[in-house]
Amino acid sequence: MPLPTIEWEGNINGRIRLIDQTLLPTELKYVYCDDIKSIWHAIKTLMVRGAPAIGIAGAMGVVLGIKNTTAKDASTFLKELKQVTTYLGSSRPTAVNLFWGLARMERIAQENNGKTVQEIKETLLQEAIKIQNEDKSICRKIGENGVEFIKDGIGVLTHCNAGGLATADYGTALAVMFKAKELGRRFKVFADETRPLLQGARLTAWELMQAGIDVTLICDNMAGHVMKQGKIQCVIVGADRIAANGDTANKIGTYGVSILAKEHSIPFYIAAPVSTFDLSIKSGNDIPIEERSSEEVTCGFGKRTAPEKVKVFNPAFDVTPAKNITAIITEKGVIKNPSFENIKNLLGSHT
Ligand code: MRU
Repeated sequence: MPLPTIEWEGNINGRIRLIDQTLLPTELKYVYCDDIKSIWHAIKTLMVRGAPAIGIAGAMGVVLGIKNTTAKDASTFLKELKQVTTYLGSSRPTAVNLFWGLARMERIAQENNGKTVQEIKETLLQEAIKIQNEDKSICRKIGENGVEFIKDGIGVLTHCNAGGLATADYGTALAVMFKAKELGRRFKVFADETRPLLQGARLTAWELMQAGIDVTLICDNMAGHVMKQGKIQCVIVGADRIAANGDTANKIGTYGVSILAKEHSIPFYIAAPVSTFDLSIKSGNDIPIEERSSEEVTCGFGKRTAPEKVKVFNPAFDVTPAKNITAIITEKGVIKNPSFENIKNLLGSHT
């Protein structure tokens, strides 16, 4: 059974329990967040990471932010709630699921503004748990919808971690692999280690091994060579934000993998829930790209690997243009040749 990445413990006065992903694979340890600052910190430092998981963390974080409110009426409460969502939204800018989760919590509070403050708080807790439970079934649906792309005997390349750890418990890109394994398909996975923070090496390799899936770890700069050797027949990765035209932000290095796949005529799939689409932005040019601290690059392996004071550029994500994407696998179905029209046809008016 997959491990739950993040859970709410107790009643409205409870706390969040999450796997500290910075310690994996050497240590499987849970951390507890009982105030808004600690969940903000957990998101910022990647204790909890991956677009759908930080959407859930944001929604549960809202409950931490309002549980001790002294507001006596709904309108004062809603003002406090806005401060809470603005603060949580300042933790990481790229994954739209965070903002989607926060907006959903705000909407629920607005819709219930005729209730007492205590009742609104209880409703918000139920909504955060609902978001988590929905993610579990959404990810299983993504697995079912994408499994046709894992034919018997193929090699699959993935980048970063779009597994159970990046979601409530089952993953997006890895959901497709978990489903293929459940159906008894034989296939091999090549996992890019994913510099600088090694989500591929630390998390994807670990998760696939736990599931008994044949996984081989490679450094990011080996992907082209492995493709040229004929070992890869498809690429499946996750997403942090998909623009209305299908341009997709995902972990830094994904864009390069898409170019390599194109050069070798290898299909390139994105697996993501509908909540990862941001139809308010026309193209990938408008996706905010998080830049992280230089230490992640200069001290990435537990010791200094670059000269003191060297200049560093550390963007955490890049954008793969829609033209490099063969299809986007969602819980609602598969969008082949993603474009404004094809996305709108499947998603309708979702924003
Ligand atoms: O910086 P991270 O580890 O949060 O980046 C995660 C990714 O890029 C994942 O591929 C993406 O969020 C999809 S998770 C299902």
